Amino acid sequence: MPRNAVEVHDNLVLEPRDVKFDWSDLPLHWVPDEPFVTHTINVLHLLLPEGERWFIKVFRDALPMIRDEQLREEVLGFIGQESIHAEAHQEVLEHLLAQGLDPRPYVRQIAWLFQRVLGEKPGLSARRRRENVIERVAFVAAIEHFTAFLGHWALNSPALDRAKADPTMVDLLRWHGAEEVEHRSVAFDLMVHLDPGYLRRVRGMTVSGPLLVHLWVRGVRFLLAADPTLQGSIRPSWKLAWDGARRGLLPDPIASLRSGLRYLRPAYHPTQEGSSAQALGYLATSPAARAAAH
Ligand SMILES: [Fe+2]
Ligand SMILES: [Fe+2]
Repeated sequence: MPRNAVEVHDNLVLEPRDVKFDWSDLPLHWVPDEPFVTHTINVLHLLLPEGERWFIKVFRDALPMIRDEQLREEVLGFIGQESIHAEAHQEVLEHLLAQGLDPRPYVRQIAWLFQRVLGEKPGLSARRRRENVIERVAFVAAIEHFTAFLGHWALNSPALDRAKADPTMVDLLRWHGAEEVEHRSVAFDLMVHLDPGYLRRVRGMTVSGPLLVHLWVRGVRFLLAADPTLQGSIRPSWKLAWDGARRGLLPDPIASLRSGLRYLRPAYHPTQEGSSAQALGYLATSPAARAAAH
């Protein structure tokens, strides 16, 4: 069984860093000459603002159910960090729109999914409402496994620097990635606190894992079609994804799948993945995080 949240995190203090980014000079293909790689990573900007606002709503719904002060503090810190993440990615969406790539049709679908399909169900009895909140926490916990995986990848992706990817965007990815690694246990610990059952964890991953893959594939397809400079000339394919991963510019799809399977190991805990020391090390040098600290 996973250890108790208090034992694992007696020193975890999650601090929201109020970062600002200037996108005025961001090229449409911010990994130069790599539109497929750029748009595959850009899917984050499509999914995260709505997704992270939904996490916050779920966690606010769960707050009255928490019977552990340390965990409550962590959940509040998590909410603070995710709300800044959502805003930071929202600003990139506005920049895409200004450059002639309109992300709104896709974002509307995502908003519908998170608010209507995965949102709070009205009119439930107290018992069924509690069950519904825990179920949604389990979805968040599974997604947070992947955001930590992607964060760890972003912190260990020197190929992006070699490819001369835009340094402000790389800082956004690594600042966000580092905070995802930093708070990677919170959703999982909250799920276990509310329901220690293994089946809950499996259900969360069974829904969230395939949904995330589906949304990502659709997002890449959407962005490549909506990019006014490409006019549909690049057809997305797994071959292009493999090629990007082989060159270190994208996460490896097989490593991502394996990571999802590790989440199902009975003895799994998020602290077994990624490195808090590395994440905090990056946050100490990140241009945006340093500017926010002053
Ligand atoms: Fe986040
Ligand atoms: Fe997160």
